Amino acid sequence: MSIPLSKTSSKSAALVAEPVDLTACNTLGLRSHARACVTLEQANQVPALHDLVVLHGAMLVLGGGSNVVLPEEVGGVVVRPAFKGVTLVGEDDGHWIVEAGAGENWHALVAYCVAQGWWGLENLALIPGNVGAAPVQNIGAYGIELVDRLHSVVAWDMHAQALVTLASKECGLAYRDSRFKHDAAGRWVILAVRFRLPQTWQPMLDYPDLHALKEARLVADDSVDAKAVFDAVCAIRRAKLPDPARIGNAGSFFKNPWVSAEHHRALAEKFSGLVAYRQADGRYKLAAGWLIDQCGWKGRDLGAAGVHDRQALVLVNRGGARAGDILALARAIQDDVMGRYGVMLEPEPVVVPPA
Ligand code: EPU
Repeated sequence: MSIPLSKTSSKSAALVAEPVDLTACNTLGLRSHARACVTLEQANQVPALHDLVVLHGAMLVLGGGSNVVLPEEVGGVVVRPAFKGVTLVGEDDGHWIVEAGAGENWHALVAYCVAQGWWGLENLALIPGNVGAAPVQNIGAYGIELVDRLHSVVAWDMHAQALVTLASKECGLAYRDSRFKHDAAGRWVILAVRFRLPQTWQPMLDYPDLHALKEARLVADDSVDAKAVFDAVCAIRRAKLPDPARIGNAGSFFKNPWVSAEHHRALAEKFSGLVAYRQADGRYKLAAGWLIDQCGWKGRDLGAAGVHDRQALVLVNRGGARAGDILALARAIQDDVMGRYGVMLEPEPVVVPPA
């Protein structure tokens, strides 16, 4: 669809940042304002960011705004990557290598890949946000994480002032985590993400919500294809998760906490119905939604923030909420879950400090 971003280069272009209202630029719909904001559409604009950061003091990269808690006033310069294009850039040992610009909408990319016969992302359908954010939190759903499909990330290194390609292994992806969350703030601007997608479809139907499809495949092997999985995931998500266009939210607000085998055993003895998944290292991942639900928070409000009535892991903006409302609700939930289960819930979105 376009020239790969990593191949576009020429002389640098000057950039001007302007104040922008970010209320419509974060899916929680929190009232927020940037003192200085710039949108990047071409790779050759990126080198000029250096001067903007010197001028404004710091940099925050904001993608689709679906995994951030923004303060009322965001300091420094806010960078909005709008690099576009989806391109088949090569093949590798039975896999397609597909490159997508960081500014592409994630769900549109998944739909496009499924339509092209580039399978492998269908379990990740309908995740809000942009492509550039996908490696930052290693998005995951319905038995797949980005790490299972990531080939590499094309990024501008603000420290070295150079365009680099980070292989998947260099990105430090873990459960909802990556080096992009831990390296110095403002070091990386992701321009494009490359995916490694199997040319022979390998269905991933082990997640409980997809067991009906797994059984259908056992009856008739060709009855379920990637498009059927894509459609099923869309239907499940629409039934459980609020549409950010209608109710402000950032998807799961907390990570599912990991506990030791001993801690899990003690909890399972005390609380029947505890939802937990054994991990490869012997620890257990607990369903945070279940813990919050059991504490009676589902559907409850605190000020202008609330807990979604169909999925307790999702915090919502009841109207006119600010960061303080969401964070006060999050703290109240954390306190209750800690008191009852001895487990500290960690927020999944990036909480941006006020200016
Ligand atoms: N549960 C409850 N009450 C609730 C919510 C959940 O009892 O209010 C129970 C469910 O019955 C189920 C278990 O908790 O037994 C897990 O719930 P679910 O399958 O809905 O998944 P999740 O752990 O809540 C995770 C991801 C989601 C992803 C789904 C599907 C995290 C933090 N969240 O949610 O990701 O879509 O699995 O794979 O890992 C996101 O990151 O924004 C996100 C939505």
